[in-house]
Amino acid sequence: MTTIFVPREVTPGETRVAATPETVKRLIKLGYAVVVEAGAGAGSATPDADFTAAGATVEAGSRDAWGKADVILKVQPPMQHEALGAHEVDLMKQGALLIGFVWSVLAPELSQRLRDRGVSVIAMEAIPRISRAQKHDALSSQANLAGYKAVLMGADALKRIMPMLVTAAGTIKPARVVVMGAGVAGLQAIATARRLGAVVEATDVRPAVKEQVESLGAKFIDVPEARAEGEGGYAKELTKEQLERQRQVVAEHLVLADMIITTALIPGRKAPVLVPADVVKRMRPGSVIVDLAVQQGGNCELSEPGETVVREGVTIIGALNVPALVATDASAVYSRNLLAVVQDLTDKKAPGVIKLNLEDEVIEKSLIIHAGEVRHAPTREAVAALGQPAAASS
Ligand code: NAI
Repeated sequence: MTTIFVPREVTPGETRVAATPETVKRLIKLGYAVVVEAGAGAGSATPDADFTAAGATVEAGSRDAWGKADVILKVQPPMQHEALGAHEVDLMKQGALLIGFVWSVLAPELSQRLRDRGVSVIAMEAIPRISRAQKHDALSSQANLAGYKAVLMGADALKRIMPMLVTAAGTIKPARVVVMGAGVAGLQAIATARRLGAVVEATDVRPAVKEQVESLGAKFIDVPEARAEGEGGYAKELTKEQLERQRQVVAEHLVLADMIITTALIPGRKAPVLVPADVVKRMRPGSVIVDLAVQQGGNCELSEPGETVVREGVTIIGALNVPALVATDASAVYSRNLLAVVQDLTDKKAPGVIKLNLEDEVIEKSLIIHAGEVRHAPTREAVAALGQPAAASS
C-alpha cells in the first residue's frame, strides 16, 4: 500500500503542517495509508488524537517513518534534521515523491541533492497559475492569509484606531492605509483594512487591478507612466525612470498614511524599493509599515527581515513567514492545496497508486525533479551554475 508521510516541520518558526484531519480522511478515501509524525499538528493546534480519529497512524519521528514513506507532504523545503542527525533528503528513500515548497531556483544545492537522491519533487511554488489550478495554488492560499494578518499586525502596532468614531468627546478620524502591490496579498489587505473602517488607497503597476481595488472600496493611485504588465498576469520590472516617477507620485500619498502595507513582488527578482528612507523620514511619527516583501529584499528601504524596528518614529514590521502566524487556517488551506495535487495524481480506477501523468499541465509543470533529472529549466540552470566561477559582474 502506498504510504503518505506527514512529518513535523523542523524549520524554526514553522507552525504549519501539511495535512489536517479533514485531508487525512480524504487521502485515505483515495486509497492511501497516512502516517503523521507525533506533534506535527501542535503548532496549528491540531492534537495527535484528531489525526488518529481521522484514520492516520501517528508515529514518533524516526528514520524508519521517513524511510518507508512513498510520498512525503511538507510545508518547508527539506533541511538538516538535528534530532535525527541527517538531512531530511537523506532520510527519504529512493523513488519517494516529495510534495511541498522547495524554492528550487533559489536553492540549487538542495535541488541537486534531491536529484542525486533519486527523489521526485512536486514543487508547490511551480504550480501554474491557471484557472484549473486555483485549488492547487498554495502561493495564493498563503498570500491571502498573509495579507489579512499584515493589517492586523499593523493595526496592533498603531497608536490609533482604524475606524471613524463619532463620540461625545468628539470625532476620531479613520486611519489612512496605503497598500502597495494589489496581487493576492494586497487585495486581501485592502479588504481587511476596509472592514476595520480605514480609508484605503492602493497602487500597482498592473492597470488591470484598478477595477478590483475599486470594487473593494479603495482608491487606486494610478501612475500611467509606471505600468508594467508581464507574462502570466505578473508584473515586470520597471525601468529606473519609471520607478522614480512612481516613487514621486506615490510618496505624496505615503507621507499622509497612518499605515502602509507593502506586497510588491516581481517573479525571480529582488523586490522593488517603493518606500525609500527619505519617505519614511517624511511620514508622521507613530505610523506603521508592514513589509510583506521583506524576505525578497523588502519594499521598504529600512525594513529588516524578522525584526520590528522604529525608524524616524515609524514602526516598520518585517515579519517573516506571516502565514505561520495563522497556522490553523494556513494549514487547512495549504493541506487542501496538497490534497488537490494528490487527487490529480490518483487514477480513480486505481486508488492508492500514484501516477505521474505528464499530460496533466499542472503535474507537468510542477514536477520539477524526476528519475534523477531536473525537469524544470530555471532550476536546471541554477544547478548547472553550481561550482562554476561566478560570472564577472558587468
Ligand atoms: P506577486 O506576489 O508576484 O506580486 C504582488 C503584486 O505586486 C502584484 O500585483 C504586482 O503587480 C505588484 N507589483 C510589482 N511591482 C510593483 C511596483 N513597482 N509597484 C506596485 N506594485 C507592484 O503577485 P501575486 O499576488 O502572486 O499575483 C499576481 C497575479 O497573478 C494576480 O493578480 C493574477 O493575475 C495572477 N494569479 C492568477 C491565478 C490563477 O489564475 N490561478 C492565481 C493567483 C494569481
